[in-house]
Amino acid sequence: MSSIDKAGTFTLGTRTVRRLGFGAMQLAGPGVFGPPKDRGAALAVLRAAVASGVNHIDTSDFYGPHVTNQIIREALHPYPDDLTIVTKIGARRGEDASWLPAFSKAALTQAVHDNLRNLGLGVLDVVNLRIMVKVEGPAEGSIEEPLTALADLQQQGLVRHIGLSNATPAQVAEARRIAPVVCVQNMYNLAHRHDDALIDALARDGIAYVPFFPLGGFTPLQSSTLSAVAGRLGATTMQVALAWLLRRSPNILPIPGTSSVAHLRENLLAAELELPDDAVAALATVAA
Ligand SMILES: NC(=O)c1ccc[n+]([C@@H]2O[C@H](COP(=O)([O-])OP(=O)(O)OC[C@H]3O[C@@H](n4cnc5c(N)ncnc54)[C@H](OP(=O)(O)O)[C@@H]3O)[C@@H](O)[C@H]2O)c1
Repeated sequence: MSSIDKAGTFTLGTRTVRRLGFGAMQLAGPGVFGPPKDRGAALAVLRAAVASGVNHIDTSDFYGPHVTNQIIREALHPYPDDLTIVTKIGARRGEDASWLPAFSKAALTQAVHDNLRNLGLGVLDVVNLRIMVKVEGPAEGSIEEPLTALADLQQQGLVRHIGLSNATPAQVAEARRIAPVVCVQNMYNLAHRHDDALIDALARDGIAYVPFFPLGGFTPLQSSTLSAVAGRLGATTMQVALAWLLRRSPNILPIPGTSSVAHLRENLLAAELELPDDAVAALATVAA
């Protein structure tokens, strides 16, 4: 059994994915804008991820924009049969690299076609509607119109499954009245646990929860408790942060991002790390 198999699998839509995936956002340039400093390194990270058993990659055409999807295509196309690529729509980039809402039916349709073209696919496995009521975190507001537009694109056969990102529990419930939802992608990690109740509710319904910023994002997690647990277990802090997510709930599918093959290999070893109960109890204090 390869190390990543030890984390187990989850059914995402109609496909089974290994629970430890890869987030491709870090493969664009600084600020997720423009080309990466080292395109060869970005290609190598993707190929190493898939060679290690990763079969769930998260992306968006607004990373770069277009750049990350084009790198995924160059690195991996034609794609392995078992690879699930999840993308997201609902935002666009300003010329100053800002993140702007793009929620009209025309913008969402354009985004689906941009993803199809840049990834080299005829149909997208999973498309998350990235809710932009507030860019920096979930905020209430109806998503009926954009979700209905996305459901139309699904009816046309361009999208297999629908997910949500940056969503409140009320928006998840609203979306599920319009179309089946297979995953929710929100910010969540050891230190940011606002979605604890949502994760448990989604687990009961067999819906995946995909935590973004699993390692803390642009400012990787730092905590003396985390460092102490990692030191005691002979692991790195990033491995402990990922092992904690894998243990937290079986519907959690972490997508750690990195632009480095060494970090990728380090992160995937988290699948082999079993946290003892006293370590889990200590880590529960990090968010407080
Ligand atoms: N839906 C949304 O709104 C949303 C928002 C943000 C992200 N996402 C998705 O979630 C994925 C994960 O988030 P993320 O990539 O932003 O953040 P992350 O996985 O929490 O952390 C990535 C950062 O940690 C560093 N890192 C990774 N492994 C490391 C290691 N072993 N040791 C030290 N540093 C390490 C990376 O730098 P190096 O490159 O130097 O390794 C990078 O700066 C993204 O790739 C994207 O697909 C979605």
